[in-house]
Amino acid sequence: MNATAQLAAAVVPAAGRGERLGPGAPKALRELGGVPLLVHAVRALARSRAVGLVVVAAPADGVAEVAALLDSHGLDGKDIRVVAGGATRQESVRLGLAAIPADTGIVLVHDAARPLVPVEVVDAVAAAVRAGAEAVVPAVPLADTVKRVEPRPAGGPEPVLDTPDRATLRAVQTPQGFLRATLHQVHEKALAEEAEGGLPPVTDDAGLVERFGGRVVVVPGHEEAFKVTRPLDLVLAEAVLARRRASDGF
Ligand code: CTP
Ligand code: MG
Repeated sequence: MNATAQLAAAVVPAAGRGERLGPGAPKALRELGGVPLLVHAVRALARSRAVGLVVVAAPADGVAEVAALLDSHGLDGKDIRVVAGGATRQESVRLGLAAIPADTGIVLVHDAARPLVPVEVVDAVAAAVRAGAEAVVPAVPLADTVKRVEPRPAGGPEPVLDTPDRATLRAVQTPQGFLRATLHQVHEKALAEEAEGGLPPVTDDAGLVERFGGRVVVVPGHEEAFKVTRPLDLVLAEAVLARRRASDGF
């Protein structure tokens, strides 16, 4: 393997609207401590010595704007590219993946909406793939008990089906790490299936590996790698960032 192939490449899906965050700019461009979420997320990846290239999948009408934004934040001399994302997260990842050289061994996929992931998590995921796993997800135990229900769209009482044993459940985060060839293969298979009216898109890439019979392992995630989804998450993210800045100051 040449030098590029030894370094991981990262895909950052950042083309979502952020409907659940409410009105405003696309979520990846919303600010946290005066800096867009996307810039935080790309910085977190760029800080890892395991990562050589970062490909951002931006909203299709915002590619030039996002490229200029990343340029203006000077990101540690890493190779950063921006491509147009798609209509679903899965499609955005597939389009980002297409911009990664075929001789890359390891790919990480990281949500723009997880701005505060500690670099230790990025390193640990890349290391687990390097150590032989084809698909790795960082995850944390759940605080809440989870029930499976029969959904009732109108908000009426929902019948409970069962309660999985909480000790066996994990909430998964990103970056998820893969052998590039594996991730490429499952995305292509999913695309072919979709064209035949197959299964709906997944919300995480490891889910695709599972769908096609691959083996996925979990490594410890981090509470600060949470996803900014709803307005309260932004409040929490501001607090975490303020705490980090205060402790860096001492
Ligand atoms: N994403 C993407 N392309 C899409 C949809 C989502 O690249 N068509 C990205 C988002 O930008 C985000 C990540 O996938 O970084 C995780 O998705 P999510 O948290 O659901 O973000 P949004 O889809 O933007 O939010 P919402 O579902 O509330 O609209
Ligand atoms: Mg979404």
